[in-house]
Amino acid sequence: MSGRLQGKKALITGAAGGLGRAMAHMMAREGAMVALTDLDEAAVEALAKAVNDAHPGRALSFPHDVTDEARWAEVVGQAAEAMGGLSVLVNNAGIGAMARVEDQSLEEWRRVMAIDLDSVMLGCKHALPHLKASQPASIVNISSIAGLAAAPGLGAYNAAKAGVWLFTKAVALECAKDGVDVRANSVHPCFIRTPILDPFVAMAGGDETTAHQKLSRGIPLGRIGEPDDVAYAVVYLASDESRFVTGAELKIDGGLTAQ
Ligand SMILES: NC(=O)c1ccc[n+]([C@@H]2O[C@H](COP(=O)([O-])OP(=O)(O)OC[C@H]3O[C@@H](n4cnc5c(N)ncnc54)[C@H](O)[C@@H]3O)[C@@H](O)[C@H]2O)c1
Repeated sequence: MSGRLQGKKALITGAAGGLGRAMAHMMAREGAMVALTDLDEAAVEALAKAVNDAHPGRALSFPHDVTDEARWAEVVGQAAEAMGGLSVLVNNAGIGAMARVEDQSLEEWRRVMAIDLDSVMLGCKHALPHLKASQPASIVNISSIAGLAAAPGLGAYNAAKAGVWLFTKAVALECAKDGVDVRANSVHPCFIRTPILDPFVAMAGGDETTAHQKLSRGIPLGRIGEPDDVAYAVVYLASDESRFVTGAELKIDGGLTAQ
């Protein structure tokens, strides 16, 4: 099937990274217009060019720090104006973080919360007026299996991603209660082959294959994920195929959390 996102106008944050890049290409391939935003201006511009080379006129890019509320207001306004509306928001930007609680600095804790959690609230807050004007609309917030299950040394990331999980449900219920057709769901990947796994590769002495094999060990399907595994889920949740799905969490984890 193709054209699953025909007519959709989507904004993807952190688009220059591993998952965002896969989403950008797949969503454009399925017919969406995509406003791609990232802290890394050069990388997101290059991505928009690559998407446009394959699907002319489908992508535009914006430099965007997702922790900056004033910038959020500008970016969603400009993206909606350029695309003729905004019907999908993918809050994807995020960083990994590892620290045992006794070594956790408050500064780093706040940085993780700002990028991984506050940004999701700011995105929903500033995109909602535009999404309401482009119903049916969909918010997809990228959490993690680390938002559903904890691990030693991941306290800040666990807390931020768990916040994204429950915050998403609150947004979904507010929209439903208001009778607006804006759905909100969260996506929970486990280990996916992107630069966010670089610290694990460094711990394995720089050997990517060994690092990925180690990460695969606990996963019932026997491998880490690929960015497209997550992008497929985002396409489904962004499309009207998921029209009766809101306040849900979709795990993309090869069975990890089923154990
Ligand atoms: N890859 C995985 O294994 C995995 C697993 C679970 C969840 N996730 C989540 O998926 C999302 C995407 O991760 P990824 O694997 O593509 O990581 P990545 O490091 O490849 O990409 C993250 C992108 O976010 C951008 N970014 C960072 N800080 C930003 C800021 N303040 N403002 C705007 N952009 C900013 C970076 O420039 C980068 O392009 C993140 O929220 C991450 O927590 C990833």
